[in-house]
Amino acid sequence: MNSGGDSLLDPADSLVPVSSDLATMSISETLNASNTPAGVEENKSELPQTVMPAPKPAPPKKVSRKVELKPGHSLTHWVNRSKSGEDMTNKVGLSETRVITLQEVAKHNQESDCWMAIRGKVYNITKYLDYHPGGVDILMKEAGKEATALFDKNHRWVNIERLLASCQIGVLKTMTLAI
Ligand code: HEM
Repeated sequence: MNSGGDSLLDPADSLVPVSSDLATMSISETLNASNTPAGVEENKSELPQTVMPAPKPAPPKKVSRKVELKPGHSLTHWVNRSKSGEDMTNKVGLSETRVITLQEVAKHNQESDCWMAIRGKVYNITKYLDYHPGGVDILMKEAGKEATALFDKNHRWVNIERLLASCQIGVLKTMTLAI
């Protein structure tokens, strides 16, 4: 008499999955279905051939180039200071109308006297330098220059008109081409 337990105990039965069952399984179930012990070769030819979509490449990580600011030089500190009534133009005088040439801007390219033209406005950023999250050095490379392109390249979302309203000393003289 057949012991009856043969089919349950036969290692061959328990190790080889039934292909008709597999045909109705999802790929993840298929991958979890094997009871094959380590070292025993599975009959892979009976598994459904499903092509997995290639994983999407991870988006490039944005590396922050923010620097550590001196204590007391956060954005909040700057906003409070610039609203305090202190002259933030470094004694040049607040103006939204004074027309300034690029040649004049270029003369002010020192940390102790730093002008910059951005989006048509000229700012004396001497007092802002230490508050810049990107650091003083990167700003000083543009000291005395028209820096709109680099400003926008790094952070076009920064509201410079508001942030430096207390530092505006004029507007940049636009150049006209002689035809
Ligand atoms: C004087 C005008 C400028 C102001 C008011 C200003 C303001 C700011 C502010 C608020 C941030 C922080 C941005 C954030 O949290 O997302 C920042 C970061 C930065 N700024 Fe400026 N910026 C000025 C000019 C410039 C210029 C001309 C350059 C490049 C030549 C520059 C380069 C950077 C860089 C590299 C960072 C760090 C960005 C990061 O990796 O998160 N900034 N700036």
